[in-house]
Amino acid sequence: MLDSVSGLLSQELAIDLGTSNTLYCLPGRGDICREPTVVAFREDDRGARVTLAVGTEARAMLGRAPSAVRVVRPLRDGVIADFQATEELLRYLLLRALGRKPLVGPRAVICIPFGTTEVEKRAVRECAESAGVRTVQLMEQPLAAALGAGLPLAAPTGNMVVDVGGGTTEVAVISLGGIVHSKTIPAGGDHMDAAIMRWVEAEHGLLIGPCTAEEVKQRVGGASAGARQASIAVAGRDVERGFPRRVTLRSAEVVQALAPIVDEIVAAIVATLERTPPELASDIVDTGILLTGGGALLSGLDETIGERTQLPVVLAEDPFSTVVQGAAIALGRSEELGGLFID
Ligand SMILES: Nc1ncnc2c1ncn2[C@@H]1O[C@H](COP(=O)(O)OP(=O)(O)OP(=O)(O)O)[C@@H](O)[C@H]1O
Ligand SMILES: [Mg+2]
Repeated sequence: MLDSVSGLLSQELAIDLGTSNTLYCLPGRGDICREPTVVAFREDDRGARVTLAVGTEARAMLGRAPSAVRVVRPLRDGVIADFQATEELLRYLLLRALGRKPLVGPRAVICIPFGTTEVEKRAVRECAESAGVRTVQLMEQPLAAALGAGLPLAAPTGNMVVDVGGGTTEVAVISLGGIVHSKTIPAGGDHMDAAIMRWVEAEHGLLIGPCTAEEVKQRVGGASAGARQASIAVAGRDVERGFPRRVTLRSAEVVQALAPIVDEIVAAIVATLERTPPELASDIVDTGILLTGGGALLSGLDETIGERTQLPVVLAEDPFSTVVQGAAIALGRSEELGGLFID
């Protein structure tokens, strides 16, 4: 009884609020849960939003909803673009994670991209507080990713983390528990999907939706020629005639469509390496690059980065969850690791 009361009074939650997926977990308890960062709603007569679905259910409605229903992705390029939808998403996740509305709101660590502005940080805090979080602590994603992947965060050794997410790619050099240098670019999985859409329109005169493009990327896409030998049939709308039509896309052309994005990611890594102090750069020759984020699963991306930088690349064990795992570790060991939080 006492346990359940104190449990209700003081709960803790680690959250990775991402452009594509939001993950959460209760440190030391329960599994990691992942939901697409998508909210579906309609507006009532007075223009107030009525939430219809959140997460997986809302994602299934993307591009398929009737005109009265709006399906939004509340984050763009790693930053909150729709405050109300983000709040709704967090409120839903809180309820799912905690099972019921707690007597006292939980304490939560929410991961944010490095370089997030004060205004953007305030937006994250306010959304979470409106959703019912009592104490919000923020943590920079590269540090959380490093911790989650088991890198020796506090050691005086340089490590590089590359997180290819949906909205951004973050490249960071970490040493002594801090970020020495970091670069965030708007080149992630979403941009890969958009590149495939543009390619199919230009080369095949066919308009395809973002969900179809994402499936193409995952099934036959790759970072380098020879990464895959496969093809996929996709349906879309003919640009000129307006009718639905099907084409077959080969791996080789999808690789070509994705090349500009892969080049941007590699260029960001190279630019970061060039600005890294020599001692740390020499460490990275040994420690290599930790590649994480869902976009890291693009076939052959690890090898391509390895070839072009001549550095060892390690793909994280579970690229989706490294950040939330790191946040959960920091939350569970706050006394020792609390310095990693931004107040
Ligand atoms: N097998 C795969 N091949 C290529 N890309 C993949 C694969 N699986 C997932 N992805 C991509 O990973 C991206 C989502 O990754 P992740 O969940 O790490 O992003 P996020 O944390 O929500 O975004 P951000 O960190 O930019 O805010 C999506 O673009 C998705 O299409
Ligand atoms: Mg992410």
